[in-house]
Amino acid sequence: MNTKIKAASAREVLSTSGYPTLETIVTLEDGTRGIVSVPYGTSAGKHEALTLVDGDPKRYKGKGMLKARDNVNSVIGPEMVGLDARDQEALDERLVSLDPSPQRSTLGGNAILSVSLAAARAAAQSLGVPLYSHIREVYGLRHTDFSLPKPMVVVIEGGRHADNSTDLQEYLVGVIKDRGARENVRAAIEVYLTLGSILKSKGYSTNVGTEGAYAPTAIASNEEPLVLIEQAMKDAGYQPGKDVAIAMDPAASEFYADDGKYHLRRDGKVLSSGEMISFYENLVGRYAIFSIEDGLSEDDWDAWPKLNEALGNKIIIMGDDLTVTNVERLKMAIDRKAINAILIKPNQCGTLSETIAAIRLAQEDGLKTVVSHRGGGETTDTFIIDLATAANCDFVKVGPTRGERVVKYNRLMEIADELGR
Ligand code: PGA
Ligand code: ZN
Repeated sequence: MNTKIKAASAREVLSTSGYPTLETIVTLEDGTRGIVSVPYGTSAGKHEALTLVDGDPKRYKGKGMLKARDNVNSVIGPEMVGLDARDQEALDERLVSLDPSPQRSTLGGNAILSVSLAAARAAAQSLGVPLYSHIREVYGLRHTDFSLPKPMVVVIEGGRHADNSTDLQEYLVGVIKDRGARENVRAAIEVYLTLGSILKSKGYSTNVGTEGAYAPTAIASNEEPLVLIEQAMKDAGYQPGKDVAIAMDPAASEFYADDGKYHLRRDGKVLSSGEMISFYENLVGRYAIFSIEDGLSEDDWDAWPKLNEALGNKIIIMGDDLTVTNVERLKMAIDRKAINAILIKPNQCGTLSETIAAIRLAQEDGLKTVVSHRGGGETTDTFIIDLATAANCDFVKVGPTRGERVVKYNRLMEIADELGR
């Protein structure tokens, strides 16, 4: 075993959107190869690390990744040679020093993250330990036991994730009653399947959106999915609010306009921040909703604390575009009492160490943590599941179908088997 880095190299591969993304290989002196592919978002937050694309209209409609690839091969890779892949924090510090711009806009967050994660995977493989154990060890995460994350499964999607569905981006089924990873996955997926039958019986399309959830074009309103999902929960034999419950990710930045208002086209409504909060309070009073993510826009800082005050004692109020897995923005959100939970996406910040720092800060402050897939260009990589396991995160948010999603739930169940759960 020699965990010194010999080389880091990247290539362009296809992501699930059809557009390219990066696959990066970190090779160690002992011959171990850690391979990762990194995703990117469709409704990416304004404050996220940059996914660097070429902008050359002659290739992949401008979204080629040759620049990011070259940044790994010519700039980042040579700087990694000789570093010990076990010393992830030093390695990530070096990565950040190569591009200290706040949004990693010089080298690209995609280029930097791919090297960071591939090094971790290579080290774990060389050491012969599961990735989740390696991550826990490296960061000295002081959890006494592994408590596996529960599934939060996207079941209906709209917004930018589908054509002509709801304005709100995601409706999810979260597992409340923990029956172990396999049964948890089964519960959420059975609700998804039952929802499919209900949609069909109503003459709605069961075609799926970018995350593999239903995207019914004829849906009447932003509220109707809540009715249908509660029905699906009951029909599938699970009690809404006890066994399973509804989570929502409106991704409100996407329907927040320059006029400072929220435009719900499907409902023919234009709402102020205060009215938007009342809209949620009303829904939470009538449906088994346990979590709202990005209920308000990413820069609507004055309204977020009001939303958290109104509902934070009853349900999860979670930042995604608001916090972008960024410690500084998370601190701001904590100071202002804007949230009680954070969505974690490694590619929003750019390195494994920064991701862990955000999780750690959130957990120290008593916030719930939810590790998430991306809606746009996903890949069959399952790193996020090991990450969520390593840090005892509360949930993983992933879509219910399509290979790049199910591979993540399959990894979760594999880990459960490994741990004898
Ligand atoms: P994404 O959206 O398309 O930006 O990944 C997913 C989300 O908002 O959680
Ligand atoms: Zn989101």
